[in-house]
Amino acid sequence: MPRSAILNVMIKAAYRAGRSLKRDLGEVENLQVSLKGPRDFVTAADRRAEEIVREELAKARPDYGFLGEEGGGRAGADTSHRWIVDPLDGTTNFLHGIPHFAVSIALERNGAIVAALTYNPANDDLFVAERGKGAFLNDRRIRVAARTRLAEAIVACGLPHYGRGSDLAQARSEIAAAQQHFAGLRRYGAATLDLAWVAAGRLDAYWERDLSPWDLAAGILIVREAGGFVTDLDGGDAVMSKGQVAAGNDTMHHELLRLLKEADQAAAKQAATS
Ligand code: IPD
Ligand code: CA
Ligand code: CA
Repeated sequence: MPRSAILNVMIKAAYRAGRSLKRDLGEVENLQVSLKGPRDFVTAADRRAEEIVREELAKARPDYGFLGEEGGGRAGADTSHRWIVDPLDGTTNFLHGIPHFAVSIALERNGAIVAALTYNPANDDLFVAERGKGAFLNDRRIRVAARTRLAEAIVACGLPHYGRGSDLAQARSEIAAAQQHFAGLRRYGAATLDLAWVAAGRLDAYWERDLSPWDLAAGILIVREAGGFVTDLDGGDAVMSKGQVAAGNDTMHHELLRLLKEADQAAAKQAATS
């Protein structure tokens, strides 16, 4: 696969940050046995990874804006371009030594994502996409799964968790509906990889709420370039601004939205009568 100059810049940044995270993962494994645990160490690892990505990207494109989870937003002299970066997606997994986490980098041009990368340093899965050029996993073209029967589908979701997460009744109603219709539900804990796995056809669909732009930016393009559908949970385009997502092939995406809507209505009705 011929890679553009900009994608090469993104890959170099992700590989460098990935090497740093992989080294740090070894230390996390040692720290598991200490009473204090690896939390502070992981916070530092996360910041280090973002600094590496920011530095590498700035070397090649000093004028672009930057939005990173750790350092927040910095405007650039070039106001039409902005990097959107999650230096470590799947922090909770990383903190527990679970090798399912990613560095994720997207390039936005005039408000549209034009290049995207999600890289899992633990197994070297590198997902990339550029607008109009398809999506790839380690140089192999990827496509969303063709499955159309819900009873055969594996679907990933987010879960409201400690200190976070909005409406528990709504989440439970949605999960119950999904359990009744899909072959299997999964919660992997790294939104950027959930989207990349939909693109690669490993997952048939995925939905989640309460996400941030850096969880979503790269995955939106990777799924679309793999022939999939990505919308907010009302079927609209406000994925990043609402922080919610539904993704899958045409049928799975459509059916998932329908199921979730029914589940939300049931939860609202129950809340009104109790
Ligand atoms: C989190 C992961 C997780 C999702 C959370 C995100 P982080 O990102 O993507 O899967 O459920 O909502 O915040 O904090 O590990 O970068
Ligand atoms: Ca994240
Ligand atoms: Ca993160």
